Amino acid sequence: MKTIKYLTTPIYYPNNTPHVGHLYSSLLVDVWKKAAKLLNRKHYFTTGLDEHGQKVAQAAAARGYSAQEHVNHLSAKFIEFFQHFNIEWDYWVRTTSVEHKMAVQNIWMKLKNNGYIYKGNYAGWYSISDETYLAEKPEQESEHIVWREEDCYFFKLSALEDQLKKFYEEHPDFVYPNKRYNEAMGFLQNGLKDFVISRPKNRLYWGIEVPDDSDHVIYVWIDALVNYISAVGYPNEEEYKHYWPGKHVLGKDILKFHAIYWPAILMATQLPLPEKLIVHGWWMRDDAKISKSLGNAVPLDDLITKYQVDGIRYFLLRGIELGEDGQFREDILKGVVHGDLANKYGNIFLRMLGIIELRFGGALPNGMPNLKTKEADALRKTLDRLYYSVDTLIDEPETMSEYLNRFIEVIVQINDYFQNNKIWEIEDKVEQAANLYFLMDIFRKATVLISPVLTNSANAVMKFLGFPECSMKYYDSNLPLEYISNRPRLFPKI
Ligand code: MSP
Repeated sequence: MKTIKYLTTPIYYPNNTPHVGHLYSSLLVDVWKKAAKLLNRKHYFTTGLDEHGQKVAQAAAARGYSAQEHVNHLSAKFIEFFQHFNIEWDYWVRTTSVEHKMAVQNIWMKLKNNGYIYKGNYAGWYSISDETYLAEKPEQESEHIVWREEDCYFFKLSALEDQLKKFYEEHPDFVYPNKRYNEAMGFLQNGLKDFVISRPKNRLYWGIEVPDDSDHVIYVWIDALVNYISAVGYPNEEEYKHYWPGKHVLGKDILKFHAIYWPAILMATQLPLPEKLIVHGWWMRDDAKISKSLGNAVPLDDLITKYQVDGIRYFLLRGIELGEDGQFREDILKGVVHGDLANKYGNIFLRMLGIIELRFGGALPNGMPNLKTKEADALRKTLDRLYYSVDTLIDEPETMSEYLNRFIEVIVQINDYFQNNKIWEIEDKVEQAANLYFLMDIFRKATVLISPVLTNSANAVMKFLGFPECSMKYYDSNLPLEYISNRPRLFPKI
């Protein structure tokens, strides 16, 4: 029986170094996992690399490395990159691992034994960058698109068309957002053709061998999709049934593989289908998707120095509505980090601390937290909505944008409260203390609730306030009254 919530990212091709597009897929799942951890829920997060296939083999050859050396090197690079952004997975997938290979071969044999694999011959245009045969002749030939004629094995996808249609009709919420569900329905309505699931080894050596025919290797997408179950112990039923089925986060470019091929493979092997597909858009630069092949990735080092890891994490989630595309440009990033984090979040903190220093000698006055005004109640309600949005996010990762909106609402309302009530001008010290304590309390709670996104800053704020760490343990407790002396500099403006 399933006991643990399980969310995956796509696994990345290590044909080049990672960029912001990869970070985005993994960040979405990371925040979901951190949110679950915050509220003490069971959760599991996998991410990693899709190490086989022509693209990777070519990249290795171009660098003069063996394919295995190349993927080892890049695996370390991806790990370093993600760790730098505080991404914390439970399991790092590598499709060259022995466990994964065995799981893929197990699935192959099941497909074969269930009558879904047959041998044939294929001739067509193959796109190396997408690792797939194209339906039509491309307008332009290039080194990435080549004509292929080869003996191969086919997967009987056509035999599953009706079953897939029925599944989609019965599960209108299977794909988020709805426009991607409609796109998947479109694939089904156009009819499904059998597809090639192997490559002759003399053409491509870098893959998992077909179990009973060592002249062929298994198509990289079958290999890759199986990671979602091999990562949680498949074929060991005792293990994987605790996790599977899970939810997949993926980019819109790989919808067909996840919405059609993967469910079909699972149907053909009589395994449960994923719970949901959460499909995100692309980070763009001008009119093009940021990608390794285009080489248009924005260097992040300089941006990290200026806006910090937290600023970039925040921007990636707030800068686009989940499911839509967005422009990754420094001016927009700066606008969001300054607008939300420096001017609203960081600034209100500093203003409160300013009064505490000026009028209370730097120690938080022990005010009465039970301020009973209409405005205070309204602020508490807004905070409650933020709390519930974290709770909702854990079950419905697609509500990510909502969560960020709820956070900024609280921060805006703290700012308004401070401004409208002219907290700095209140003569009566007891009244001023009560207001400050109240606002600082809400600020602390909002900080804990946004800590899945603002990992470093939330920790710094909580430590400054005198808590040992940032966790739900310190959500409701009294605020310590003494502050340590070094204020964190939250999102200084550039
Ligand atoms: N290896 C396959 C996935 C196999 S999953 C079983 C693959 N790899 S990829 O490295 O090309 O892309 C992986 C993910 O990164 C995809 O979800 C893709 O959408 C995402 N991104 C790559 N560039 C992107 C942007 N510029 N913006 C947002 N995400 C994009 O496909």
